[in-house]
Amino acid sequence: REDVVILGIETSCDDTAAAVVRGNGEILSQVVSSQADLLSRYGGVAPKMAEEGHSLVINQVVQQALDNAKLTEKNLSAVAVTIGPGLSLCLRVGVCKARRIAGKFSLPIISVHHMEAHALVARLVEKDLQFPFLALLISGGHNLLILAHGLGHYVQLGTTIDDAIGEAYDKTARWLGLDMRKGGGPALEELAREGDAKAIKFSIPMRQHKDCNFSYAGLKTQVRIAIESKNLSVENNSISSTSSHERRLRADIAASFQRVAVLHLEERCERAIEWAMNIEPSIKCLVVSGGVASNQYVRTRLNHVVEKNGLQLVCPPPSLCTDNGVMVAWTGIEHFFCGRFDPPPRADEPKDSM
Ligand code: KG4
Ligand code: ZN
Repeated sequence: REDVVILGIETSCDDTAAAVVRGNGEILSQVVSSQADLLSRYGGVAPKMAEEGHSLVINQVVQQALDNAKLTEKNLSAVAVTIGPGLSLCLRVGVCKARRIAGKFSLPIISVHHMEAHALVARLVEKDLQFPFLALLISGGHNLLILAHGLGHYVQLGTTIDDAIGEAYDKTARWLGLDMRKGGGPALEELAREGDAKAIKFSIPMRQHKDCNFSYAGLKTQVRIAIESKNLSVENNSISSTSSHERRLRADIAASFQRVAVLHLEERCERAIEWAMNIEPSIKCLVVSGGVASNQYVRTRLNHVVEKNGLQLVCPPPSLCTDNGVMVAWTGIEHFFCGRFDPPPRADEPKDSM
């Protein structure tokens, strides 16, 4: 297995990432260039701007990943690239780059689903993790509970009916005037540590629905109303310029939001475990991955749920939970060993043929 070496490329949202991983799971290099800083000034991800950002750094990021691995394209077995879901303009930058390399060096190409990559990277982290397993995938655009029976064989137990939890973290952080340069989620997690999580009574979403779906739009509205009712402006209100009393109020909102946002995850996971055990009694693990899974409070709370049910929690380290090239390269490896790849594209393929 160690003879196989795969380059993974990821450009679905605001991170341009590349990594080189060996067939045995050894990570040879990992490079991420984030545009969060730039995009935070524009109130979110503007597709055209994000595309330009990716185009600007893609060659450099890939070259850095190869250099750090002390390899050249000639040493690769295949190229894996995220083809969706995500912003199509952004995805295109990664796909074009991957096809150019694969065409020039006659390498097979592997198309990777972003959410599958978030789930499967857990098998790189935890070498003993066997199918079937349950996975909670929580990011900026998705909230999924899936039962993974085998490679490419996934049953969706639940999804969001409106917003994903990461979107709720990001909006709440913005309304509270937090510094978005390091990302709304991490900033909110930090502020929440100072607050009283029981200060404000937000209601837990979807309690009357006895299923595994999620909803965060209503909680977002509750947060906005709470902020406005405390006369905290939700526009242009940097927290750095507020009094300590006001900072305390904001921290209470952050902590109360986080508690309920995560309680919703806990309740859905409880039910998903029950459902999954009925379908596949051999399940031993809950995988939690995606950007929000790098949150320490989320990890601790879900660990309680999992332990209570006699399962094991598998949560990749934060750098593998947020968007990265390793998860794409690793998913490529899983597919490669099952013969799931496409032949090299023609080297003279016109640029716009994808
Ligand atoms: O998986 P990811 O990097 O990109 C998408 O596929 O969307 O997830 C990004 C999301 C963002 O909403 C970000 O705010 C959130 O993950 N996130 C966090 C934390 N770190 C990243 N949310 C809560 N706490 C964190 N520590
Ligand atoms: Zn993601």
